[in-house]
Amino acid sequence: MIETTMPRPEQIVVCKWHPELIGSLLDRSLEVYVILDAFDVEHMHPDWKLLANAERVYRISEFDSLEEISAVASDLSLRGVAGDRIISFTEFSQFGAGYLSTLLGDSADPLRHVAYRDKRLMKQRVEAAGVPTAAWASLPDRADEQDLRAVRERLTFPIVVKPATGGGTIGTFTVDSPEELAPKLAGLGATPFVKTSQLIAEEFVVGRELHIDALWEEGEPLLLLVSAYHENRLAVLDGISGGADATLALDGSSVLAQEDAPELYRRVLELHRRVNRALGIERAVTHLEVFERHDGELVFSEIATRLAGAWIPMMLSEATGTDIYRTLAESMADGKIPAVRPARRHVGGLHLRPSAPGRITAIPSAEEILAVDGVLRVQHLRKVGDVVDFSHPSEWCVFVAIGADDAAEYEELLHRVAREIRIEVEPLGAGD
Ligand SMILES: Nc1ncnc2c1ncn2[C@@H]1O[C@H](COP(=O)(O)OP(=O)(O)OP(=O)(O)O)[C@@H](O)[C@H]1O
Ligand SMILES: [Mg+2]
Repeated sequence: MIETTMPRPEQIVVCKWHPELIGSLLDRSLEVYVILDAFDVEHMHPDWKLLANAERVYRISEFDSLEEISAVASDLSLRGVAGDRIISFTEFSQFGAGYLSTLLGDSADPLRHVAYRDKRLMKQRVEAAGVPTAAWASLPDRADEQDLRAVRERLTFPIVVKPATGGGTIGTFTVDSPEELAPKLAGLGATPFVKTSQLIAEEFVVGRELHIDALWEEGEPLLLLVSAYHENRLAVLDGISGGADATLALDGSSVLAQEDAPELYRRVLELHRRVNRALGIERAVTHLEVFERHDGELVFSEIATRLAGAWIPMMLSEATGTDIYRTLAESMADGKIPAVRPARRHVGGLHLRPSAPGRITAIPSAEEILAVDGVLRVQHLRKVGDVVDFSHPSEWCVFVAIGADDAAEYEELLHRVAREIRIEVEPLGAGD
């Protein structure tokens, strides 16, 4: 545990609803301000009784509204709340939270938070600090021939093209040759959840994909876990987008225990520190993605200053033996975290989806899934009657966290769970 010398905040602003995180902050003698968007209020069932203990709850339509964030900044400023006390833990609130902290005077660099979301600015800064990244080019206008020419001339194909500020691997695709670039871009529709049409193109990196989840305090990791995706996220897309021999990839990741991979942990930490310096990350929660090439070189992919999404929070809870949201709250409020006690020696997570697109006709209950030996937690995102159309790799259905004490047993468990927990669908009709 690391002792901190930085003054601890007395006021904290939380962007978006999360019961454990907000509940845990309210348990402390802190002034807690909460900003909820319309999605929270309409779909996430905020606990208004709990929220009555907050200093103030602001309701806005969305975090991307300059006007609404400015109004919140104005009121917080009247109350003397500073910009270094804002917790934002979802992709949807990142720009708004960053703008809010800029307005409240947190950083001399108004673009800092943009570099946590825009993959081009992020890569430029990380690359300038000497961290290996894929060669890349900006594609601000997919209809601009000059922009396309720059991509064709500067990059070696195959390449990956994706929204500059995307998430969840949505709207991400590969282009195998320079000739394919223009036709593929011309056929692109709007990307769900992404507002900007600006893109980034990157050379394709071959290697194992890792994610690193960490809590930082004064530039030191209170917690840092390295995990490996079972399959690269783009391979998941290949599986669901069909093709004659397409099979569903295992969608999830496994935490690598530090004692099993000490050298990898050492190199990841070294890279992470350089990335943090390049982007000004000191006290934050981070989700970093890195490729490990076959020769062992680590190549930076991207970083987010928030908790990871999907199955990862529940997997981190099992890997730490804590509720990760409470741990996050404790690190933000007190600069320390509870002792880490992994549930099992080997812990991982899986996203379970049906084997074909369709309307869900049967989905095992939480009790049924938890009865499967080795399943530690479950979270349902869909129910019977919902449609899963395989339009992108982050169409979440069911997450499970799994664990075993023995490596071979864990490997067997992973495949058994993916095979045995079935979500049944019927084909979509013409009206779907
Ligand atoms: N340069 C690259 N080389 C190989 N694969 C890549 C590259 N860029 C992206 N990918 C694949 O596409 C996925 C999505 O890309 P990236 O992580 O940059 O965007 P994202 O949509 O923000 O991600 P997330 O799913 O983590 O929210 C990656 O996880 C990886 O599998
Ligand atoms: Mg990513």
